[in-house]
Amino acid sequence: MAVLKLYEYPDEVLRQKCEKVGKVDDELRRFLDDMLETMYVDKGCGLAAPQVGVTKRIIVLDDNPSDEDKSARRPMFLVNPEIIWRSDEMVLFNEGCLSLPEQRAEVERHEKVRVHYIDYNGNEQEILADDLLAIILQHEIDHLDGVLYIDHLSRLKRTRLLNKLSKYREDKERGKKKD
Ligand code: NI
Repeated sequence: MAVLKLYEYPDEVLRQKCEKVGKVDDELRRFLDDMLETMYVDKGCGLAAPQVGVTKRIIVLDDNPSDEDKSARRPMFLVNPEIIWRSDEMVLFNEGCLSLPEQRAEVERHEKVRVHYIDYNGNEQEILADDLLAIILQHEIDHLDGVLYIDHLSRLKRTRLLNKLSKYREDKERGKKKD
């Protein structure tokens, strides 16, 4: 397995509409494994293919990405995921994204979603998700259409977050932060 290069805001690859995957074969499974490893190394709970520079409809996630107890992990691979139902109830969740490092903001999401997808073995699956899993699914599937969580914020909050991101990067560049 290999750790892949992460693409960060404002890279254009994050704004592409991704293409559907034709079939799940060994080559794709290797890519799925690499995506999952990259996600764990970077301490994320979800990762979409455009974040590693690949504009295909693929996401990996884990709603319990424990470092201490790896057996408690719940990795999921979703190829061509599609939200086929959303609850009317909405929830607020404090989200972050590996493509906007060290930033977080509250985003409104549907409390529950039903998602259709192709799994690691090429089989069709459907899942009814709530809690953190529902949030991650909505965040990651957004990525496949070039949408970032900051797009759901008011202009004021988005500007503030992007200013903080610039500041964080400047500080890091100057070596003020031990990252
Ligand atoms: Ni993200």
